[in-house]
Amino acid sequence: MRKKVIAANWKMNEEYYEGLTLFTEVINIINDEVTGEQEIIVCCPFIHLHSLAELSKGYSKISVGAQNLHQAECGAFTGEISAAMIRSTGAEYVIVGHSERRKYFNETDKLVAQKTDTALKNLLKPIVCIGETKKEREANEQYDVLKRQLVEGIFHLNKTDFNRLIIAYEPIWAIGTGVTASPAQAQEIHKFIRQEIAVKYSREIADEMTILYGGSCNSENAATLFSQADIDGGLIGGASLKSRDFVSIIKAYHVP
Ligand code: PGA
Repeated sequence: MRKKVIAANWKMNEEYYEGLTLFTEVINIINDEVTGEQEIIVCCPFIHLHSLAELSKGYSKISVGAQNLHQAECGAFTGEISAAMIRSTGAEYVIVGHSERRKYFNETDKLVAQKTDTALKNLLKPIVCIGETKKEREANEQYDVLKRQLVEGIFHLNKTDFNRLIIAYEPIWAIGTGVTASPAQAQEIHKFIRQEIAVKYSREIADEMTILYGGSCNSENAATLFSQADIDGGLIGGASLKSRDFVSIIKAYHVP
């Protein structure tokens, strides 16, 4: 059965001690109140990684991830962070190709492919984000855009490596806007992504792939989104910054 995941993306929020407090609250509430098999991943700024990874020890449901990495193994790249550095903090995951990185830092599909390779080589599990802009959706180009992002970003991987990914579908028009894709809209795209994976790899691999939805997901809309056949959880931005809100989303996902 494919893994069900709720991942937080704190983005550039939370000073050091604020992050520790938020994470501790989340752990405590989850420990007391959440049952079920869903995995919870908190993708925090680099400064929190090691402390959060330490705090998460002993809580098998919760893992920690970074939000970006550099594609090179190491070297003269002032201000950058490598996959090995991230791994050495105890983090297990890394977000790759978030639309904010694509937009503000000019990350291309080619770079997404390189970063994904470097992450996998260093035993990090990439959460690869894809999604179309409002303009692309209005022009009905979403399928072409998503297919290109899949082909150029991750379809070069062999089956073993591909199996280690999580994919997040995040329509850019829904991120941080308060506008969510309707459950039917999201399901349609998730089904399309899974179908493309089946064609490229196999039905079995497609059925095992965890595909998250992201974009203004909150405790009100989470349950219907997550009840769709091809949606296996969410990547949560704004609503992950308050422990109660984040845990309500986790609880909205009924995983036996
Ligand atoms: P949002 O962000 O939940 O604030 O829309 C989601 C994301 O960008 O991962």
